[in-house]
Amino acid sequence: MKDKLEAILKSATEEINNAVSVVDLDNVKLKYLSRKGELNSIKKNLKDMSDEDKRIIGSMANNVSNELEKLIDEKNSQLYKIELDKKLQSEKIDITLPSDFRPQGHVHPLTQTINEIVEIFQGLGFSVMPSEYSPEVETEYINFDMLNFPPNHPAKDMQDTFYTKVAPNVILRSQTSGAQIRQMLNQSPPVRVISPGRVYRCESVSARKNNLFHQIEGLLVDKDITFADLKGILNEFVRLYFGSSRPTRFRASYFPFTEPSAEVDVQCIMCGGKGCRTCSNTGWLEVLGAGMVHVNVLKNVGIDPEIYSGFAFGMGVERLAMLKYAINDIRLFFNNDVRFLKQF
Ligand code: DAH
Repeated sequence: MKDKLEAILKSATEEINNAVSVVDLDNVKLKYLSRKGELNSIKKNLKDMSDEDKRIIGSMANNVSNELEKLIDEKNSQLYKIELDKKLQSEKIDITLPSDFRPQGHVHPLTQTINEIVEIFQGLGFSVMPSEYSPEVETEYINFDMLNFPPNHPAKDMQDTFYTKVAPNVILRSQTSGAQIRQMLNQSPPVRVISPGRVYRCESVSARKNNLFHQIEGLLVDKDITFADLKGILNEFVRLYFGSSRPTRFRASYFPFTEPSAEVDVQCIMCGGKGCRTCSNTGWLEVLGAGMVHVNVLKNVGIDPEIYSGFAFGMGVERLAMLKYAINDIRLFFNNDVRFLKQF
């Protein structure tokens, strides 16, 4: 038995020394020290030995297994260090090398403009309408009829509005004003909201007109709201958006869903008001329509016009961006030419 233990110690030590990887070492450990390993088979025979042998051989076997454990642990940390060094060497990166150039995009100028306008109105106490109240695919009923457009209004003409094949009277909305209707059908006054979104018109595309553009609709309904409140809010908006030095004017106008109605013009930035091609020689550019919500519209959504009054407005986002940044062609917003987009 003694000889056998010595032989085990000798051959195991040799195998431990020869191990070149952690896996080799694990195999040696399995072969000699596991439950089914060689040392354990000797320990199993102890029960048949005399007490004297049990003591001597037992303690010797324990010494051998302790010794082997120690050797394996030492070798293990050696091998681990070697393998780690190898891995670190092979995965070394030179952090001083120049990196790949990955150009980074940014928010589109129209989205920037919308965000800016939304922030201004939030500062004036308006909140953004839930988007489900302003779908881009809309019914003629909401887009026109509920807004007090007479049945034969020319805006409903196929030449102005895109009709779909989904169903008769389903259109791509021509204005964000329909959102007013959905808001008022879902919330009783006081109402103080804005709603940005895309609109579509069947126009021939030019420097000033695109058949897709963006509007921001606004609506305020409460007790004792007057035209003075509308003027106050819009003047404040123009001052915050353009700065106080830009001349603006209110002009009487007509919309079926407001009475009285007005349009707001901002002095043309291209010519400073002298008159040029961009402003058709008028020196002014219209940026929004507005007015007091028509009594018929309030009635249509079940709001009592004897108790409540309100104002509404709708502004063209592209126009506002063009006027602020002196952009003379609306198509630039949609061509995605990086040379243009980079400037914002
Ligand atoms: N929807 C109108 C348009 O697209 C703009 C407008 C005018 C909106 C007056 C309004 C409003 O809310 O009160 O031309």
